[in-house]
Parts: sequence; structure tokens; C-alpha cells
Amino acid sequence: MMSFNTIDDLDPGQRVLVRLDLNSPVEDGTVQDNRRFERHAETVRELAERGDRVVCMAHQGRPGDDDFVSLRQHADILAEHVGRDVGFVPDTYGPEAIEAIEALDAGEILLLENVRMCEDELPEASPETKADTEFVQTLAPAFDAYVNDAYSAAHRKHASIVGFPLALPAYAGRVMESEYEANTAIAERDFDGQVTMVVGGTKASDVISVMEALDEKVDQFLLGGIAGELFLRAAGYPVGEDVEGMDLFDEQWERNADTIRSVLDERGDAITLASDLAYEDAEGERAEIDVEAIEEKTQGFLDVGSETVETYAPIIHESEAVFVKGALGLFEDERFSVGTVGVLEAIAETDCFSVVGGGDTSRAIEMYGLDEADFSHVSIAGGAYIRALTGESLPAVDVLEDAA
Ligand code: 3PG
Ligand code: MG
Repeated sequence: MMSFNTIDDLDPGQRVLVRLDLNSPVEDGTVQDNRRFERHAETVRELAERGDRVVCMAHQGRPGDDDFVSLRQHADILAEHVGRDVGFVPDTYGPEAIEAIEALDAGEILLLENVRMCEDELPEASPETKADTEFVQTLAPAFDAYVNDAYSAAHRKHASIVGFPLALPAYAGRVMESEYEANTAIAERDFDGQVTMVVGGTKASDVISVMEALDEKVDQFLLGGIAGELFLRAAGYPVGEDVEGMDLFDEQWERNADTIRSVLDERGDAITLASDLAYEDAEGERAEIDVEAIEEKTQGFLDVGSETVETYAPIIHESEAVFVKGALGLFEDERFSVGTVGVLEAIAETDCFSVVGGGDTSRAIEMYGLDEADFSHVSIAGGAYIRALTGESLPAVDVLEDAA
């Protein structure tokens, strides 16, 4: 149940400070367009069309990392999606920023510089401590309201996320609203039928915490990816281990083996593992092998096999709700997209409630021509999605609720 105020509760025509999450891949210094721009553009456009003065703040990377860059390019990409000009000022709360904010007319949009360039933004601290920073105390008086749309950064106790709601009337943006509702559904909603979760990806610890937290909520887990291979290893198959120069499995196995074994032991009836796996043969083609036929792991496996997809698809078809966390294979390479795409297609064919999230998984949707409209929700969040699935609260949501 949503218990925060939204844009619907905010009178139009005001000076609004909006926190977006435009954190994006940066390749050779060039910011890559992605679903985050498209989603946040809807909130920004709505506010501008209502006649608000819209000032956006966002982050990119972390100090010391290659992708810690200015938001200048982000302003142009955002403008394309909004369909209106987005001004940029290379300052967060200094005189240059305040002057640009004061010069705005109704319906105009401005993006401030990367908030992580401002010392008060990071380290994590309590909302009270963050509200007390010079950053928040200087910027807040230039506004009538604060809107947080940055659901995918909602797990961070940073000034732009937890500080402003104590200094200004605070509201959730459209992305915050829709992500919150869809991603907490598995923990909070009662589905009248089978709930299935597809779990893959590269991080075993994430997968395990989701499986443990959702023990009672999920009827069927369908496994794949690196995590799926580790489960196969726990089940006694000679896979899920590093071969020649690999560094994917053994360390994660050491850390998680006991938990994987106990999850498999206690919930084995609710867990379906891959029955075949795909690899690259000597000719560079996709080849498949039944897990029972593997005597020794001699090469890497890059996808689940076609027989596994044929087992997973009918389970999905029977489901009332399907949640996806992580890819089943290296879908970026078309040869190894069969598992991930097969599962997404099965979900698209049904009219079950469906949520796709977890890092990059959702990119498979546009890469392989699937229609986003065939899914109930496609999340743009990574860490916040995991926390929502495990029922953990999100600091950004907590402060919005307290402010309501
Ligand atoms: C993300 O991209 O996952 C969010 O924007 C959070 O970024 P962070 O992990 O650097 O805090
Ligand atoms: Mg995502």
C-alpha cells in the first residue's frame, strides 16, 4: 500500500526540485541513452506541462571511477525524451546554480551538475544529518516542493534522497510510484494462483537472499545463469566450477555453498534446475549438452539449453505472477540468448502479472524485439529491486512516508 504523497497531491505552478536517477553506462566518455531517461522524462514532462519550474538533480558514477562525469550530456539526452529544452548548469548549490534556478520561467526545465560532485551528498547518514548539510540548507529555500523519482537509488541514504524531504514538502514522482508498487507486489500482494520466480544472473549472494526471503511467497523458482550452475554443483553435477582462467564460480561457491545446499535441501521441490546447458563448440557454434551427460567440466557454459526452456515455458504459462531477477545466459551474444529470450517470450504470451528487473536483464527486451507492453512492469532498478523483492525497506520511501 502506497502511503506517500504523489504529484497528484501537489498543486501545479510551483518551483519543484526533482531527484532523478540518470546514472548510465559511459563508454569512452560518452553517456549511453537508456530506459532511465525515457522513464524519468515522463515525470519531468508532466511537471513542465503543468507549469511548474522544474529543477532536476541526479548523480553519475562515484568519485574516483571512470564513469564519474558531468551531467552535461545527460541534459541533452533528457531533452530529447521530454521533447522540451533542458538547460544545464555546472553547479549544484553555489551562486551560479541559484541564479539559474531563479531565472526559470513556468514550464522550463533545468538540470543541475552531478550531485556527487558536492561533498555533502555521499557518505550515507540519517535523514536528519543529511537535512542539516549546507547543500540541503542552501538549495531548499529556492523551492516550494521536492519530488523524488529516483526509485533505483532509493536504497541510498544520500543528501539528495533523504535530506530534502525534511526541508521541503515531499512527493513521489511517477517512476517512484510505479516501481514501488510493482516491485513490492511479490512481498505484499496475495496472488490467487502460482507465483513463479526466474532467477539467474551472476551474483549468487543476491539470488540466495531473494530465494530465502521469498521462501513462502514463491511456488516455483526456475534457475539459470551463474547462480543456476552453482545450484547444479550443489546437486552433484560437475559444473559451477572455474575452468582454465575463469574467475566466476569458485570464490562464490566457497562463500555460498552451505546456504545453497540448505536452500536446495529445504525447498528442493520448489526449485527447477536446468536439465541441459549450452556452450560454444570448436566451430564457434552453439552446442548443447544434457547435464546428466557431463562427466567433467572442460569449457564454460553460456546459457541454459533448449530442453530447459521447454520445461520452464509451461510452468510460466500456468503462473498467476512471474518475477524475473537476472538473465539465464549471456544474452548479449545472440547464440546464448535462447534461455533468457525463451523465458521472456513465455511471459509475454501469458496475461499473468509480470515484473522484469535485475540489472541488465531488461535490456534483452529491446535487443530481441519483445514488446515492453507485454509485461506488467519492467524495472529500471538494480539494488533497490533486490531490496524490494526481499521485503527490505528503502530509506527514500521511508522518508517520503514520514513526510506524508
Ligand atoms: C544504480 O545505478 O544502481 C543507482 O543509481 C545507484 O548507484 P550507486 O550504486 O552508485 O549508489
Ligand atoms: Mg533493470
